[in-house]
Parts: sequence; structure tokens; C-alpha cells
Amino acid sequence: MSNVIIVGTQWGDEGKGKIVDLLAEHADVVVRFQGGNNAGHTMVVDGEQFISHLVPSGILQKKTCLIGNGMVVDPEVLKEEIDYLKEKGIDVGPEKLKISERAHLIMPYHKLVDNAREKMKGDGKIGTTGRGIGPCYEDKATRRGIRFVDLLDGETFGEKVRTILDEKNFYLKNYHQADTLDPEQVIDQYSEFREIFASYVENVSVFIYDSMKNGKQVLFEGAQGTHLDIDHGTYPFVTSSSTLSGNACCGSGIGPVEISGVIGIVKAYTTRVGQGPFPTELTDDIGDIIQKTGAEFGATTGRRRRCGWLDAIIVRNAVRLNSLTGLAITKLDVLDGLDDIKICTAYEYRGEILKDFPASLDVLAECKPIYETLPGWKEDISNIRTYEQLPDKARAYLMRVEELMETPVQMISVGPGRDQTITLKNPFA
Ligand code: GDP
Ligand code: IMO
Ligand code: MG
Repeated sequence: MSNVIIVGTQWGDEGKGKIVDLLAEHADVVVRFQGGNNAGHTMVVDGEQFISHLVPSGILQKKTCLIGNGMVVDPEVLKEEIDYLKEKGIDVGPEKLKISERAHLIMPYHKLVDNAREKMKGDGKIGTTGRGIGPCYEDKATRRGIRFVDLLDGETFGEKVRTILDEKNFYLKNYHQADTLDPEQVIDQYSEFREIFASYVENVSVFIYDSMKNGKQVLFEGAQGTHLDIDHGTYPFVTSSSTLSGNACCGSGIGPVEISGVIGIVKAYTTRVGQGPFPTELTDDIGDIIQKTGAEFGATTGRRRRCGWLDAIIVRNAVRLNSLTGLAITKLDVLDGLDDIKICTAYEYRGEILKDFPASLDVLAECKPIYETLPGWKEDISNIRTYEQLPDKARAYLMRVEELMETPVQMISVGPGRDQTITLKNPFA
């Protein structure tokens, strides 16, 4: 039996949703273990596009989907997403979707705080998605969060909301001159969610444990990317959860020995949404071409994604941090029209060569990428379905990526569609 983790190796939006959807065919259970609706995962099946923010991307393959304890869930968004999927004819009832009783709820004050802080920071803002993610994880860490298990008990829930709003309202009003909230209104609004979600709440850890004991295969779906990780990313320009493979265990409630493989999703170039360092960012025509060809707009906020060359320093960082056993290269087709393709293999910092990703943003800001240039293949590869049919130059590019990352390329994606994929090794096989 195999249990596989999927993580992003860069700054998110690598195409995790597409690969999870594809691999979910071989899994019985798909679980998301961190983040919330800051994520936007896109799947394209038979020409139809689906975007999920909270429901795991295994839902289109009709697999049991789990929201792990490590996630933060905005019940309003989850309700909308369930309705959206139902409208598309997809079953998202409590038999198909289960929410950990320990997952934290995003509350209306989390969103107000997130946006008020960003506004106050002005140019120094992080560029969050404004979904209340950071303030919700902050309350979890300071032990004032509200979990699904608390929502189920009306009295406990009411008490918690009244207590915390006392402090949040004071902070919102006096520090941010922002709107405040009426606790009774919030309690009322959330009692509707209690009714909707009561039958979805489950002990997800026990569910996974029992599934594995019964020979079921589990796919763990990461959100964001390695360099948005709270510990190992470009702090403070990161998200507020651990995005690494190690957290698949903590965020769902199983131990590490159950994991048989970790696939890192690598976009064939690099993108980033929001602020923060990005050494290989292109602000020239090539950056524009990649942005347009790759349709690089955020699936959650619609923001234009910053684009740049593939950075082997960060992908190698992801190989180590996640113990990657294989790579899935996505959006290779976006490079089809380019004469030359560059890969950053090292940084130069004040005359010194750096091969590892620095922790200091000041050092990073002064790092100049050192590039290796490979010839482009100048051919449409989006209809190719075997490795052998790829142009020689595209294969040379993939081989060089594999060599630089010291990790085998196991999947190649040449378009957004589920079928536009070349699988060299199925991690579940
Ligand atoms: P995720 O957050 O990692 O799931 O990625 P997103 O869904 O936010 O962004 C990836 C975008 O690229 C989506 O619009 C996908 O439909 C699209 N995509 C995924 N793989 C490919 C590919 O191989 N080629 C092209 N052209 N688009 C792709
Ligand atoms: P997926 O799963 C890309 C970025 C935001 C911002 C920073 C902090 O689709 O790859 P937050 O709202 O989390 O406090 O914002 O993190 N960010 C993402 N960027 N893809 C994502 O998710 C992201 N989730 C958060 O743009 O820079
Ligand atoms: Mg995304």
C-alpha cells in the first residue's frame, strides 16, 4: 500500500490541484492538512475548469475527501464551495467530505484583522489573500481559537465568541479604527453553520488510521509552497502554516512511517503572488510573455502573478526540506515559444557564490542569480503524451533539471487538462 504526499516546491500555484486530481484516481482517501481558502487549486477535466479552495482536489475523482486538523476553515466559503460543486453535479455530502473536529474556524474578526493590518502596513504589507488565515493561526497558537468541536456545542461556542470579541473589538476599534462586530450576530450566523456541518465533523485521525489498516491508499494534498512555509520560507513574506511534507502528518493525525513517497510539484519557471523576495523575477518582456502564455493570475484573488526563471536553489531547498522522492514538472508547454531558457544554478552575493538559500532577506535582496542557458525547443508540446515524443531539447531541459535537483522527474505536465500529462512513474504503483 502507498501513501503519498504532494507539496509545492516554490511559492505556490505550481499546479498541485491538477496533479492531485490526476493521482487521486489511485487513492481511496485525499486529505488536506494545512492552510485554508488562501489556496486556489485548479483542475480541468474534459475542458471544464474547477477551482477548489478548501475541499481537497480528489473530489472530482469521487474519493473520500478529508479536511485535516491542521487546516483553518471559513465555514461561509466551505458552504459556498459545496454548493458550487453540487451545482456541477458532484457529490459533496458527509459521506464524501469529512471535517476534522480539531480544525480551526476562521471567524469574521480574523478577516477584519487581516485586512486592517495590511492597510496599516501600506507599502510594507505582506500582500496576504485577506482571508483571515494569519489571525486564525495566531489565535490557535495563543490557545484562543475556536474549533469545529466547539461549534457543535452551542453554549461553549457562544461563550467563546463573547469572550474573544470583547478583546478583538477593543483592538479593531482603538488600534485600527476599523469596524467592530456584534457577538450575538456572529453567534446567530454561525448557528446556521452548526446545522449545515454537524454531520460532516469527524475524528479524521481515526478515519485515516482505520482506512490505512484496511489497505486503503491515502493522498495528502499540500497547499501553498515550500517558500511560503512559516519556518523555512521567505519570512515574514510567508503564510502562517507549515507547508512542508512533515506537516502532512501533524496536520492530519498520523505518524511519518506511513508515508511511502513525497512528490514535489515544480513549475518549469517560477511565480509568486504578493510581496517578498524573488531572485529570478523577470521584469522584462520575457516575464510578460511567460505571464501571458501561462495565464498567470491568482486562482484566489485574481492578482497578476510575478514571473521569473526556474530557480534551482529554491527547488533544491525543497528537495531537502520535504525529502522529495520525485518531481512533477508542470507548465512545460508555457516555455514552447522561447528561444532560450534559463535556470538559476547559484546566487552571487558580494562576490561569493551561494548554493543554499539564505535566511536573511537583506542578503537575499543582494543576491544575483547565476544562470545557465539552454536552447528552447520552439515547438508545441501540448499534444504530446509520451516522453520519447518530446523534442530533444525539451528532454535535455528535463534531464538537466533532474541532475540539478538530484531527484527523478516522474511526471511532466504539458497543459492544464487532466489528460495533458506524461507519467514516467506512478508514485502509487
Ligand atoms: P495550485 O495552487 O498549485 O493547485 O495551482 P493553481 O491552480 O493555482 O495554478 C496553476 C494554473 O496552471 C492553473 O490555472 C492550472 O489549470 C494551470 N496548469 C496546471 N498545469 C498546467 C500545465 O502543464 N500547462 C498549462 N499551460 N497550464 C497548467
Ligand atoms: P496555493 O495552494 C500562492 C501567499 C499570499 C501572500 C502570502 C500570505 O493556491 O498554491 P496569507 O493569506 O496566506 O496570509 O498570505 O502567501 N499565498 C499564496 N500564494 N498560492 C497560494 O496557495 C497561496 N496562499 C497564500 O499571496 O503572499
Ligand atoms: Mg493556487
